[in-house]
Amino acid sequence: MTKVYFIGAGPGDPELITLKGKKRIQEADVIIYAGSLVNPQVIADRKENAQVYNSASMTLPEVIEVMKGAAADDKIVARVHTGDPSIYGAIREQMDALEELAIDYEVVPGVSSFVASAAQLKKEFTLPEVSQTVILTRMEGRTPVPSGESLASLAQHQASMAIFLSVQMIQEVVEELLTAYPSNTPVAVVQKATWEDEKIVEGTLADIALKVKEADIKKTAQILVGNFLGNDYALSKLYDENFTHEYRRGKE
Ligand SMILES: C[S@@+](CC[C@H](N)C(=O)[O-])C[C@H]1O[C@@H](n2cnc3c(N)ncnc32)[C@H](O)[C@@H]1O
Repeated sequence: MTKVYFIGAGPGDPELITLKGKKRIQEADVIIYAGSLVNPQVIADRKENAQVYNSASMTLPEVIEVMKGAAADDKIVARVHTGDPSIYGAIREQMDALEELAIDYEVVPGVSSFVASAAQLKKEFTLPEVSQTVILTRMEGRTPVPSGESLASLAQHQASMAIFLSVQMIQEVVEELLTAYPSNTPVAVVQKATWEDEKIVEGTLADIALKVKEADIKKTAQILVGNFLGNDYALSKLYDENFTHEYRRGKE
């Protein structure tokens, strides 16, 4: 039975795809992958005769046409997106088109680049008494962001932030953030997290723009911002010996 699988390829390291995602790629007759960001090694283990399309040079109607053709031939399609497809993946418009065509589909999640970047930095976004909120966003560029979601307004929360698609505008990002965060707020920029040529630059809002320029980082990077990158925090209640919860009685 034909089916389209939207699969999160993970951030780059080919071992960071889910078992389910890997299996679906192995079984697929047609693979459409985001060639500008997905590591080609992720689709290396495929059927010998699988047809492969790189969506980087395709339009939405072209992608849907390939899916439609595959469905007519009762084929399995793996639509492979970088990281997790629900984040800046432009999958909704594809899913809606499939709904209209009555083509069955399923989404297989993936490891997003923002969590992969935290892992590479060995940091936790939700440090007790530092921040319990993570904001995923991007700076307005050639495509707009809704009013009310400007970086300056989001910065007012001083939450942990992961900024996608914006490193090429690092100077503007810093200027917007400085309207609310102090200039000594830690920032880490991770380019191609988990790839072999990953680059990490760490600093503060005061110096990160220059460091990013010096490191020649212009794309495929996460900008992580907030005091969760620092070293002051409270210990968690979950593992506090005096704290009682559903699974453990505290000492007091
Ligand atoms: C179109 S968005 C796709 C995001 C993806 N769906 C995800 O969950 O990571 C592309 C942006 O994601 C970020 N990105 C993707 N892969 C990355 C990686 N391996 N390391 C750092 N940032 C990455 C960059 O900000 C890049 O500009």
